[in-house]
Amino acid sequence: PKLQVVNREGEEKTVEGEAGLTVMEIIRDSGFDELLALCGGCCSCATCHVFVDPAFKDKLPAVSEDEDDLLDSSDHRNADSRLSCQINFNDDLDGLRVTIAPED
Ligand code: FES
Repeated sequence: PKLQVVNREGEEKTVEGEAGLTVMEIIRDSGFDELLALCGGCCSCATCHVFVDPAFKDKLPAVSEDEDDLLDSSDHRNADSRLSCQINFNDDLDGLRVTIAPED
């Protein structure tokens, strides 16, 4: 499945994502060093913040309480905000577009 990633400069790149990895891992492994993902996917740092295409909202896992709290700590949270380490990529998400959130 394909993942479309928009970086902080607004440049867009389509990458082939492996199902079973998290969206954070796919972005990081595709060479986007601006996605720090400092905690390595433990849902405790919020540096993997992305904005997700609202068209895919129904296909995404629900936001947990921990994720919700962390997103609240960001100055850039909006209705499309997610922590990318909390989204497991799969075939249903083919074509998903994510935008890396500004640095807090
Ligand atoms: Fe730390 Fe996602 S990588 S919360």
